[in-house]
Amino acid sequence: MKTWEILEGACLSCKKCPLWETRTNVVVGTGNKNSKIMFVGEGPGEQEDLQGQPFVGPAGKLLDKMLGAIDMKREDVYITNIVKCRPPYNRDPKEEEQSACMNYLRYQLKLIEPKIIVCLGRIAAKAIISPDFKITSQHGIWYEKKGYYFIATYHPSALLRDPSKKYHAWEDLKKIRDKYLEMNNL
Ligand code: URA
Ligand code: SF4
Repeated sequence: MKTWEILEGACLSCKKCPLWETRTNVVVGTGNKNSKIMFVGEGPGEQEDLQGQPFVGPAGKLLDKMLGAIDMKREDVYITNIVKCRPPYNRDPKEEEQSACMNYLRYQLKLIEPKIIVCLGRIAAKAIISPDFKITSQHGIWYEKKGYYFIATYHPSALLRDPSKKYHAWEDLKKIRDKYLEMNNL
């Protein structure tokens, strides 16, 4: 049987990749464990590592606004990352770190059984949708696999660096809202 206690226990003591050596806290995820929608980022940053919660730093503030724009609150959705421990200096998580951590995300999917999975940024989209995913040309497109609907949009950190992408992210968010309403009415 799969339970949250088993998952959290495994994550909190995990040493399956070298990121355990530099972490302060393992960031498993947060939000509604019965949600129809799950948001997946890349990995914890400095604030996330310190607080043990995903998306609580500057990118998290923007994510909250993005959710607010489509009438969702962080408590309504489930939020997690590809890797559960912070890569030092916020570098991209390495392929082998991502694959070492992937079983936890799979386990979370089994526990939550969401309908919609939103990949925040390139790293999550490559890990979840397809290894050759191109965020600039493939964001905002639905991919249906194994009964889940997947979509990617820009990572909030990318939007902070380049606000001209916000318009595209907003278009993606509207699609996400519409699909979510559709799924909740089934
Ligand atoms: N960036 C991410 O990808 N995830 C977080 O939790 C915070 C910042
Ligand atoms: Fe384990 Fe994932 Fe942390 Fe690596 S990043 S130590 S696999 S929990």
